[in-house]
Amino acid sequence: GDPIVVDDPGRLTFRVDRRAYTDDDLAAQEMTRIFDRCWLYVGHESEVPGPGCYVARDVGGRPVVMARGSDGVIRVFANSCTHRGALICSQPAGQARSFRCPYHDWTFSNQGELVGVPIPDGYGPGFRKADFGLARHRSDSYRGFVFVTFDPQQPRTLTEYLAGATEYLDLIDDQSEAGMEVIRGAQLHGARANWKLMMENSVDIYHFRALHKRYVGYMESLGSVPPRRRGGFGRALGLGHAANELPPAAARPLAHWTPMFGAEFRPRIEATAARFAERFGAERAERITRTNRALLIFPNLMIIDAIAITIRKIDPAGAGRMAITSVALAPKDEDPDIRELRKSHYLTFLGPAGFATPDDIEIVESCQRGCLNRTVRYSDLSRGMNKEVPETTDELPAREFWRQWDRLMQGDGGRFEVPHRAAGTPAGIPAGTPGAEAR
Ligand code: FES
Ligand code: FE
Repeated sequence: GDPIVVDDPGRLTFRVDRRAYTDDDLAAQEMTRIFDRCWLYVGHESEVPGPGCYVARDVGGRPVVMARGSDGVIRVFANSCTHRGALICSQPAGQARSFRCPYHDWTFSNQGELVGVPIPDGYGPGFRKADFGLARHRSDSYRGFVFVTFDPQQPRTLTEYLAGATEYLDLIDDQSEAGMEVIRGAQLHGARANWKLMMENSVDIYHFRALHKRYVGYMESLGSVPPRRRGGFGRALGLGHAANELPPAAARPLAHWTPMFGAEFRPRIEATAARFAERFGAERAERITRTNRALLIFPNLMIIDAIAITIRKIDPAGAGRMAITSVALAPKDEDPDIRELRKSHYLTFLGPAGFATPDDIEIVESCQRGCLNRTVRYSDLSRGMNKEVPETTDELPAREFWRQWDRLMQGDGGRFEVPHRAAGTPAGIPAGTPGAEAR
C-alpha cells in the first residue's frame, strides 16, 4: 500500500500516516518485525544484586525472568514452564534458589536447569531432564543496562546495536563511582494510545512549555528556571536511537544546585560537583552534571536524565493501548538526604501522578482519539529539518525513530546499513558529536 512514513528531504518535510497509530494489522506486524528482532531492554543489573535475585516482567510481549544464578551470572529465561507452559515465576521480584512451577511442581534451578520432577518413575527412558531446562534468551549488558533479543539471527552485538546511544549511557553510568542502581519499586501504568505516541512525547521538548504550564509555574515559584525555549540540540544516534540535550544550567540534585532544592542542600550538592570536576575534568563534569537529556533507545526505551533519572519502558498492547513501566535510577553511594530529594523530584515530575506525566498521558490519548478521524491523513514531524543542527524543540529524535521503524517494517531489516553519517561538529557540541540526521 501507500508508504506510512513520507520522508521528503527535498522539501524538508516529514509526515507519518496516522494508520501507524490506529491500524491493528500494523500493530501485529510491529511485534514480528520490530519486537521479535531488536535488542530490547529488560532491566538493570542492580535489580538482581545477589545470587538468586530475579525479576519477572514482560519484554516485547513475552514473559521473561531475569535471574542472577547462584554462580553470579545474569541470565534471561522464558518465563514459561517447559512442561505445559505455565509461568514458572509469578512474583515480580525476589530471591530464590529455584523456581517451582505451580501446576505440577516441576522445579528449575536459578540457572535454568530442570532439577526436579515429582513422581519421576512415571516417565520412560526417552524423557531426560536435561532436555527440559528453561529456554534461555540471548542477553547482554552495557554499563549495567541488560537487553535481550529474541532473534536468533540478530547480527549485531548489543554494543553495535546501541550505536551512538552508548555515549549517553556512559554519561548516565558515569554519575557514580560506586555504580548506579534502580530505586526499588516500579510504577506501572497504561494509556489508551499507541505506544509510539509516547515514544515521540518522551523525546519532544517542543511541548514542554505549552503542555506543562503548571509545572513550569511550579519551578518558577521555587526560583528555578525551566528549560528555555531555544538552545540545546537534538542528535540522531543511528539505528533509530536519538537524544536531546538541553542547554546547561538546568537543575540537577546530582551536582548542580538551584534554589528549588533548598539552601540546606547547597554545600553537599556543590561538594559533589567538585568531585565530578576532579574525576572527569571541567568540561565532561559540566556535561554530566549540568545538562538535562532525553535518550531514546529504539524501539521502546526512554531514559530521561533530568532532575531525576527516569527509565521508561513503553510496551504496545495492540494499536490503541500501551503499558508504561517507570523506575528511577540513582547513584548507589548517594547521600541519603539527596536521595530523598531525588525521589521526590522523580515522583513530582515524571511519576505517573507527577506534574508532567498526567498531562502527557492525557495528550497522547487525545492524539489517539483525534487520529481516528481518517480525513486528516498525516501527522507532521518536519520541525528542524531546515537546520544543520536541530535544537531540542525540533523533531529530529522522532524522525530518527520513525526512519528505523520504517526500515524494519519494510522488512529489509535496516540491520546492515551504516548507523549515521558523520557531520561537522557545531559550536557548543563536544568534539566527535554527529550533529545531523541520517537519511
Ligand atoms: Fe509446569 Fe506442569 S506446567 S509443571
Ligand atoms: Fe511531557
